Amino acid sequence: MASHPKDVVITDEHPKTLLLQKHADYIIGYSKKKEDYEYTMTEHFRMSGIYWGISAVDLLDQLGKMDSTEIVTFVKKCHDPTTGGFAPSIGHDAHLLYTLSAIQILSILDAMEEVDVEAVVEFIVGLQNEDGSFCGDMWGEVDTRFSFCAVASLALLRRLDAVNIDKAIEFVMKCQNVDGGFGTRPGSESHAGQIYCCLGFLSITGQLHRVNGDLLGWWLCERQLPSGGLNGRPEKLPDVCYSWWVLASLTMLGRLHWINANKMRVFIMATQDPETGGFTDRPGDMVDLYHTLFGLAGLSLLGESGLKQINPVFCMPQYVLDRLSLSVQIMSI
Ligand code: FPP
Ligand code: ZN
Repeated sequence: MASHPKDVVITDEHPKTLLLQKHADYIIGYSKKKEDYEYTMTEHFRMSGIYWGISAVDLLDQLGKMDSTEIVTFVKKCHDPTTGGFAPSIGHDAHLLYTLSAIQILSILDAMEEVDVEAVVEFIVGLQNEDGSFCGDMWGEVDTRFSFCAVASLALLRRLDAVNIDKAIEFVMKCQNVDGGFGTRPGSESHAGQIYCCLGFLSITGQLHRVNGDLLGWWLCERQLPSGGLNGRPEKLPDVCYSWWVLASLTMLGRLHWINANKMRVFIMATQDPETGGFTDRPGDMVDLYHTLFGLAGLSLLGESGLKQINPVFCMPQYVLDRLSLSVQIMSI
């Protein structure tokens, strides 16, 4: 029986240590099985899938086993000359989500000179609205995720000056709630994924002092359930991806030590599949690249040995940001 109605039970059957090589083999194998059902079904978010995969493999120090030439060729084919943005797959429409993933991939593979950076900057500039918010694409949806994607992309391109940052900050601050958290738009409920985006945005723009670290730190710590896992909102089940959204947020707030790290580690380890390799959202489910990156990234923030250090804002190996001389703001307490 779960000790909480919205929790899971971790037993002795679940993995307790990091199955490092299993995960590397799972990710490297995934990119080679292009005829597989799962590979075909994930075409509509392929660009992000590649970012999750190469970041995870890099954390495992096995990036050299991926075909970087094939990846850069794919990214270039997804660059839409009309809008200047990147599509998730060849022939799909450009979107800010996949534009950030493409820039992250090119940054990790040190291949930014392969694309027309000015066209990408123009795409992002064209998505900013009068109130400072950003749309994800030409269809007009507004979300604080896109504010993060815009400034993270521009920071990696060293072109933050291209948009109206004051207005962008004004919009993100309008999305802050009385519980200290942030939602998708003004008045929307706090959600750990959006909190990561807004804190990442404020870190990149040097505005973290606008946040009440104690209040938001408490809200984030309350996401930890008796199993050790974290949920994204009250009354939701734990999910390993929140060990990224929440732990990265606490790291930016300088309060990572507020979480029970031992229990967190036990939960993340239990989401590994010892047969296939990879991580699931919660113990017993099916693995995927998304949860594999965020499981490993969460462990990296906790200082797990055998993993490279991850940057809490960009969710990329720290050495890539060092290579770009890009530093981020972390709140001091
Ligand atoms: C939860 O999504 C996560 C979010 C809302 C944050 C997503 C963040 C980005 C797309 C920005 C780029 C991210 C990185 C790491 C560079 P969900 O749909 O799983 O939420 P649910 O748990 O409520 O279903
Ligand atoms: Zn998840």
